[in-house]
Formats: sequence, C-alpha cells, structure tokens
Amino acid sequence: MRGVILAGGRGTRLGDTTRVTNKHLLPVYDRPMIYQPIATLKAMGCTDILIVTGGENVGGFAQLLGSGFTYRVQDRPDGIAGALAQAEGYVDGLFPVILGDNYFSASFAMPDRPTIYAARTERPEAFGIYDPGAGRITEKPKDPVSDLAVTGLYVYDDRVWDVIRTLTPSARGELEITDVNNWYLQHGLMDVHDAPGTWSDMGTPDSLLRAALHVKGAA
Ligand code: G1P
Repeated sequence: MRGVILAGGRGTRLGDTTRVTNKHLLPVYDRPMIYQPIATLKAMGCTDILIVTGGENVGGFAQLLGSGFTYRVQDRPDGIAGALAQAEGYVDGLFPVILGDNYFSASFAMPDRPTIYAARTERPEAFGIYDPGAGRITEKPKDPVSDLAVTGLYVYDDRVWDVIRTLTPSARGELEITDVNNWYLQHGLMDVHDAPGTWSDMGTPDSLLRAALHVKGAA
C-alpha cells in the first residue's frame, strides 16, 4: 500500500528554529520529527511513501531518508489540501495521508472506508473541531462546540482529487483539508473514529516538548 506524508509549511509557530530548516527535520527527543509519521504509516501497512514538501526543503529530506521514498514539491504554500493535490497519480484506491507534524503513540488498522480520527484536546481553538451533532468540522473555531480535535491522519479514496478541485481558498488563503473532510461527511462517505493511544501535534514549542517526552518514555 502507498501512503502520503504532507511535510510542507513554514513552521512559523516554532519561531527561529524553523528559519533555516524544515519543521519536520527538527529533533523530537532522539530522532527527526518525520520518523514519527513514517512509523505510523508503516504500521498501517504502507510499503511505499510519498513525501510532499516545499521545494527548498526536498534536499534535506532526501539527504536524511535516501532513495527509499518518493518526493514531490508543493510549489506554493497553499494549504494542506493544496499539498495533497500533489499526490494525485501516486496513490490509488483507499490510501492514508498523515501530516508530518502529528505524533501518535499507537498503531492504526487500515479501515475499509474513508476515515478521520478524533482525539480530545485542551486547545480546541487550535484545531479542526468535530461537532458530533451536526456531523461537521469547524476549522479553528472561536467558540468550540466540542473538544474533539480532528487529528492529522486521514484515509481517502479516489474521489478526493475531484473534491480538491472544487475548493476555494479560505480566509487565511489556504485550501483547507477541513473542507475536503466536510464534503465526505456531508455525503455520508466518511467514518469518524477515536484515535487510539496518545495524540499530539508537534507544531508549537509546548506540543513538540510533549511529544518528545512521550518518545523518551517519560510521559
Ligand atoms: C491542521 C488542520 C486541522 C487539524 C490539525 C491536526 O491544522 O487544518 O484541521 O486539526 O492540522 O494537527 P494546522 O496545525 O496545520 O494549522
């Protein structure tokens, strides 16, 4: 099975630590961040992995990971769904996609339908938040209706490419993965599962530290 890691973005929430390197190459305790999503996809059954990143960073990933991976460039920082569009033609049928800054302590079984995974968060205003009543997601809500964050592991099918083509940029100028997920949810084509184990993003100093302590086995 083939899977996709989205490892672009400017990492601005990590300040000067990402000024000269890509966020996903930073250490999480004793290993580069990108090793975490690679492990998650491999445990799901992926034997081939595509890494999508900004053009200026491809060299760093290739130097670290070598030729066992496929690399594609996101020319513009046009959001997560914009990055995912680069994977068209690489994957086929049902496939997993993971954000390169997402840490999961547990393994996932590959589902047989498009799926997203929710986890409780203390910072609902920082994530896509799932409303179980309405069956839809709000991206970074000012008044969150739940504390169920949509984590950065997604399973899609071939419909996703046409869905991405219908998107228009959000207020922050990005093609939002939340709009893709809401399309699937509205059409009854997506399951929402609880994420097993511990989940953390690694995109802020505090969440990066929390993930590092988990990797060390200290939390
Ligand atoms: C992205 C998604 C958000 C999701 C989060 C998970 O946010 O837009 O829906 O909850 O990843 O890590 P970002 O952290 O890129 O702003």
